[in-house]
Amino acid sequence: MKKTLKAALAGLAISTAMSTAAMAEDIKVGILLPYSGVFAALAQDIDDAFVLGLETFGPEAGVTFDLVREDTEVKPPVGLAKTKKLILQDEVDVLIGVVSSGVLGAIRDTVDGAGVPLIVANAGNDEATGEACSPFITRISFSNQQVNRPMGKWMVDQGVKKVFTIAPDYAAGRQMIDAFTAAFTAAGGEVVGQEWPPFQKTQDFGPFLANAKASGADAVYVFFAGGEAISFVKQYDSFGMKADLPLYGSGFLTSSLYVNAQGPAAEGVITALHYVPTLDNPENAALVAAFKAKTGRIPSEYAVHGYDSARALVEAVKAGATDRASLAAALPKVSFTGPRGELRIDPATNNIVQPIHVYETVAGADGLTQKVLATLPAEADPVNGCVMPAAVN
Ligand code: PHB
Repeated sequence: MKKTLKAALAGLAISTAMSTAAMAEDIKVGILLPYSGVFAALAQDIDDAFVLGLETFGPEAGVTFDLVREDTEVKPPVGLAKTKKLILQDEVDVLIGVVSSGVLGAIRDTVDGAGVPLIVANAGNDEATGEACSPFITRISFSNQQVNRPMGKWMVDQGVKKVFTIAPDYAAGRQMIDAFTAAFTAAGGEVVGQEWPPFQKTQDFGPFLANAKASGADAVYVFFAGGEAISFVKQYDSFGMKADLPLYGSGFLTSSLYVNAQGPAAEGVITALHYVPTLDNPENAALVAAFKAKTGRIPSEYAVHGYDSARALVEAVKAGATDRASLAAALPKVSFTGPRGELRIDPATNNIVQPIHVYETVAGADGLTQKVLATLPAEADPVNGCVMPAAVN
């Protein structure tokens, strides 16, 4: 009897030890992306490259990553409900994703309040690394101001003096155009008119294009992404605007993800981004080859956000992080050399610091490609009211 009890107790100890070990070896990842709606293709690129990143770097971490996916539908209330479900019901250790600045704004307080680390794999919402910054939010992608600010001076330097702007009427559209406008006017340029078409509801850009044409501008500067970018660029060309009014914008406009769907309409458009697939470095060559082999596509900036998010998560685990608090502490400290070059997170805001490449869309051997015209130096965003609380761990 005594022996049986002792054996039973020993068995109990083993199973407790085993379950503790099993828990430590399992990192539950909640992926929040818009698998439906205007950004569905972006979501798929991020997801495919996140999985590729885990396959490539994950084995070094010595843990199992369990993935739970939820569709935000690009709707802030849906994104918030899905975030709560992942945190409370699935009890994820870490969240990755969010494409829309509107959705990021909606989930910020819940993520911060619950103390669950979020790796932002797209949404550029300036406030999330500004006045609404959080030790639980680390951005691996870009901020809206970071991508657009450098184009203000660069365009004035190229002789562009009067610009008309167009962007969808939601957080990212407003922030991208405001950052461009501030830099363009500070450098001596003039914004002669602006339009804000309703987000996700505009199919016909004709009335906005007519106002741009009549404005007396020398050029048009825009932000559009996903399905809206495809229709905007095609309509701009079919309205016969390109010859008189060159088209500029943030580089999501002519992303490598959908530039070939835009076709010749995209040729000659000049935009800026933190990543283009034509960057010449060994880490990028490895990503382009692996992503092509896995998906048949060239990696876009969205793919790089997914790939680098996976790498950042793996690096945090390799540094010893196992749960929400330790992952939150480790994520802003990660650094590695990736397809964009050296990845650095600004500890003052938890936003990535990176150079911006101005590129022209040109015809290449296999369709349209990105010709880099200038690389503008990496500049950390101003802290914009961020008061980062002390490290959580
Ligand atoms: C955003 O809403 O922050 C956003 C969405 C799509 C992009 C870029 C930014 O391509």
